[in-house]
Amino acid sequence: MAAVQARVEAALERALPARDLPPGRLHEAMRYAVLGGGKRVRPLLAFAAGEAAGAAPARLEPVACAVELVHAYSLVHDDLPCMDDDVLRRGRPTVHVEFDEATALLAGDALQSLAFEVLAGGAAGADAAVQADMVRLLAQAAGSRGMAGGQAIDLAAVGGMLTLPELEFMHILKTGALIRASVRLGARCGALGAAELERLDHYAKLVGLAFQVVDDVLDAEASTATLGKTAGKDAEQGKPTYVSLLGVERARELAEELRREAHETLAGFGGRGDCLRALADFIVLRRF
Ligand code: IPE
Ligand code: IPE
Ligand code: MG
Ligand code: MG
Ligand code: MG
Repeated sequence: MAAVQARVEAALERALPARDLPPGRLHEAMRYAVLGGGKRVRPLLAFAAGEAAGAAPARLEPVACAVELVHAYSLVHDDLPCMDDDVLRRGRPTVHVEFDEATALLAGDALQSLAFEVLAGGAAGADAAVQADMVRLLAQAAGSRGMAGGQAIDLAAVGGMLTLPELEFMHILKTGALIRASVRLGARCGALGAAELERLDHYAKLVGLAFQVVDDVLDAEASTATLGKTAGKDAEQGKPTYVSLLGVERARELAEELRREAHETLAGFGGRGDCLRALADFIVLRRF
């Protein structure tokens, strides 16, 4: 994990515009949002799926950067006053607090654009049809039937109630879609048959949902200091979550069930699935 994190950190550093390149303040905000923090779970999943598919690390690097750039953009916008109104992220002031709201909005926009630039330019020599497919896959994951759609449902649900299927749908979109895309994009860089790709996709759906279930639990149980973001926000803002619907105990049980299923799904992968197994464990057992 540490090796992939270091590799992705260096690649992101290179992909981001220099802070002295005009408009300097926007570029500074983009770098602030991306560099020096975050677990890098989505890049790790892309690399792990690539490993399971026998992909070359050089092809995985742009994919890993692209999904992390979309994720970083989503966090900048998620923290804005018009959304979750958060002042702390990754142990530091959020982008709109450190800079200003308009800069945060634009930094998010530009990070999303940069993600597609990196993805489209990345896999030089790759088949053009595969390349176009990968761009489409990320676009769908980030869009109204993916992350952005999930965020819309999240905001519309504030102060109200959701049924369990509605909550699951929201989580699958707002967090699951990009996690699923990370795995699918990593896998597309290698060579797997349809049945194995299908199994990886099933794994990705399970850990994608588990990721947000655990995020909900940690919001209720962990401290601001360990999370690096303000704890207890979901209850304070009246957000329907797995904790508000099921309670902490059952939410944790559900995450554990998803972890077990994720392991079962990888049964046929042998040693090639080790990193994906370790990431399923990390996603469910993490404390931050
Ligand atoms: C937080 O994501 C937002 C969600 C989608 C739940 P992460 O927990 O991956 O945040 P970082 O990147 O590690 O800061
Ligand atoms: C955010 O979910 C999901 C996205 C950014 C798409 P949350 O609002 O629960 O994330 P945190 O808890 O602020 O990191
Ligand atoms: Mg939110
Ligand atoms: Mg939030
Ligand atoms: Mg949360």
